Amino acid sequence: MSIQLNINNAGLRAHELEFVRPQVEAAFKTVTEKSGAGHEMLGWLDLPETYDREEFARIKAAAKRIQAQSKVLVAIGIGGSYLGARAGLEFVKGPFGNQLGEKGVEVYFAGSNLSSDYLQNIFDVIGERDFSVNVISKSGTTTEPAVAFRFFKEKLEAKYGKEGSKERIYVTTDAKKGALRGLAVAEGYETFVVPDNIGGRFSCLSAVGLLPMAAGGMDIDQVMQGCADACKAYANPDLMSNDAMKYAATRFIMLMKGKKVEILASYEPSLTMFGEWYKQLMAESEGKDNKGIFPVSANFTTDLHSIGQFIQDGSRMLFETVLWVKNAKHELKVPHDPANVDGLNFASGVPVAEINEKAMKGTLLAHVDGGTPNLLITIDRLDDYGFGELCYFFWKSLAISGYMIGVNPFNQPGVEAYKKNMFALLGKPGYEDAKGALEERLKSLS
Ligand code: PA5
Repeated sequence: MSIQLNINNAGLRAHELEFVRPQVEAAFKTVTEKSGAGHEMLGWLDLPETYDREEFARIKAAAKRIQAQSKVLVAIGIGGSYLGARAGLEFVKGPFGNQLGEKGVEVYFAGSNLSSDYLQNIFDVIGERDFSVNVISKSGTTTEPAVAFRFFKEKLEAKYGKEGSKERIYVTTDAKKGALRGLAVAEGYETFVVPDNIGGRFSCLSAVGLLPMAAGGMDIDQVMQGCADACKAYANPDLMSNDAMKYAATRFIMLMKGKKVEILASYEPSLTMFGEWYKQLMAESEGKDNKGIFPVSANFTTDLHSIGQFIQDGSRMLFETVLWVKNAKHELKVPHDPANVDGLNFASGVPVAEINEKAMKGTLLAHVDGGTPNLLITIDRLDDYGFGELCYFFWKSLAISGYMIGVNPFNQPGVEAYKKNMFALLGKPGYEDAKGALEERLKSLS
């Protein structure tokens, strides 16, 4: 595997992993035997063997068609129907991938907020250019993507006519039911499936994430190969040689020691959205029944100049997991300046990647000295294969740690609460009863 976990700086005593072996092995068994709460949502577990090859070929064909017909793809979705694709594209193509990508169309993401300014900005970025839309929603009724889709559907129909827009709308939704499925069938849009047995935050290597990733120029064969290799590697039931198990066990020990916040820190801006994906995966899976580790993500060295102070010296409730990329794609060396006004000539000719590595190592030791335990996950490089591999590593580990803390890692009942209030306040039919009481409480805001 190209993923390596090092827990030498987690501050564990020699026996501690051994002492949680029974719990981690039991949780591993519960996952692999599909015998625990929410087991019907374990479709991702053997995804590399079971995924629909016919649909995979259609995804690749649709991506080629999008590339031929458009300069821009607008991917509309939220949560699990959004984060994975964006994380994958930035992981591989970097934060400026839309401007610099040699392969694929520019991909912009809509429907993941309710900001009219953000929507207008996407309209402006597209301008007069040709565009296609991939609307992604299992239910088809999630407010944010539903609002965005209305706008983009209207724009497509105005630009290409009703018939022309049918060639440019790609729908990823439930296989059989739901509002979006009904609309797609009625209008004749090409459809892809959000599998029934894979929850949103585990769905990025189904059509949910694969179509935007492929249209944006990612090699999805390589993504699936990385996932397949990880699937084999992390099927190993031995705690000491399975890093997904070891990561789960170490996080569990951290939680037992009162470290209730995990910071996933990277030193590559290309991993910013991966951090967002990780946050959803961890928070929606573990944060229930008043339990769980609160996930945070950070980009170093940028954030060392903001939250670094807290990590070093603030309330001791944190542990840090550094996601380190061993090989930078580009070698850039610090230029020499004879005037040396900034006193930086000691680093003249040194690759920036080497300075980044020294920053990582120095920071790691400083944070450990300050009482923040460290876990280090090293990956080879930011490529398609590595993305598939890393997704599976986190899925498997999280499923194990979820069962270890005694929650169902595959549901998300808490996500509904804000929606009920929002619908009641907007006057959505069926929510009338709650409206009066909420408005009464809201008086406190005025
Ligand atoms: O992980 C989840 O299940 C959620 O984040 C959903 O993906 C998100 O709410 C979007 O739901 P839908 O695909 O039904 O629009």
